[in-house]
Amino acid sequence: DDRRPAPPDIRARKGGVPLVALTAYTTPMARLVDAHCDIALVGDSVGMVLHGLPSTLGVTMEMMILHGQAVARGLTRALLVIDMPFGSYEEDPAQAFRNAARLMAETGAAAVKLEGGAHMAGTVAFLTARGVPVMGHVGLTPQAVHQLGGYRVQGRGQDADRVRRDAAAVAEAGAFAVVLEKVPDALAREITEGLPVPTIGIGASAACDGQVLVVDDMLGMFTGFRPKFVRRYGELGAEADRAIAAYAADVRARRFPAPEHVFAAEAGK
Ligand code: KIV
Ligand code: NA
Repeated sequence: DDRRPAPPDIRARKGGVPLVALTAYTTPMARLVDAHCDIALVGDSVGMVLHGLPSTLGVTMEMMILHGQAVARGLTRALLVIDMPFGSYEEDPAQAFRNAARLMAETGAAAVKLEGGAHMAGTVAFLTARGVPVMGHVGLTPQAVHQLGGYRVQGRGQDADRVRRDAAAVAEAGAFAVVLEKVPDALAREITEGLPVPTIGIGASAACDGQVLVVDDMLGMFTGFRPKFVRRYGELGAEADRAIAAYAADVRARRFPAPEHVFAAEAGK
């Protein structure tokens, strides 16, 4: 589809109308996201949001491929970006290429996202030189949760320079956009102003070149915890709870099924 933004089109939107991104993990959600967003991200957050895992560390290539295929079937215009799961790219650039190629070949994703800054720059350069568009992800990198000691704000005080260097390193290595997660507003703004490629913020700054959220978070569907950076645009979890409670009460009281839901012995009656 010609209307479909490719990674270079996303990159060219630096400084323009903000890029809109959301995660999606299933076909029906992908259709909804596709209607309104520039980028649909098959995030490894799928492990926590849909599979009940305690972190993203247990997410496998097979999970990413299955959800990536489901999302691809629901998209006609948004760019499909897929996360590389923990353990699939960190060893060396060759391992990263092998797994990125598999994710793209088996799902139709046009780009991969991987976590890490300066230490991943060589891998980003290796992939982008070989036909794999890469979205970077710096600041809070949830796959490093144990190394970071929790899901804390990154880049405060003396730590700001590390995040600055990480963003610059992946952009310099060829990333077409960089996710900035959970970094101070002023730092995210400064990085955005200095970086040649779009920044996509999550818990970062309104000054970023785009924003991304976990769709189940903003819909009020995944209520395990509520990060400060999420705005709830819906209360689908509460609505589902109400509906399921009403169904359970109706079944127990024999109010469901009603006459209109059951079948006569003879057709056409
Ligand atoms: O896995 C994910 O959902 C993400 C985004 C929220 C950036 O990486
Ligand atoms: Na992710």
